[in-house]
Amino acid sequence: MTKNSNHLNNIDDDFTFICTLDDLEEGIGKRFIINDVEIAVFKIKSEVFALNNICPHQQTHLIYDGFIENDLVVCPAHGWKFNVKTGKKSSGGNGLTTYPVAFLKNKVYVKVHQKIFNW
Ligand code: FES
Repeated sequence: MTKNSNHLNNIDDDFTFICTLDDLEEGIGKRFIINDVEIAVFKIKSEVFALNNICPHQQTHLIYDGFIENDLVVCPAHGWKFNVKTGKKSSGGNGLTTYPVAFLKNKVYVKVHQKIFNW
């Protein structure tokens, strides 16, 4: 069971199924597209986080390919760092939009309403 699990008896329609918990590898991001929004999903220490996949630095679609340093995801393009829980840039300024994650048994759901850019 994940630590930040928001286990729902009924997933509301705003949540979209993306994968099972077993599909996510510890510390390795995966990219998904929901409602035309690209998201990067990470499982870190049994918690699951969903962030926008587009880096605000040069708009690369690479956050999912970033590596994890403690609670930070490091953009592989130029090394900007973002908190996986808040999306905030470690050095301040605009960061990444984060999205609510929910679980139903072993299934992972993410709530994405609309495309929001933070750059
Ligand atoms: S594009 Fe992400 S740090 Fe430059």
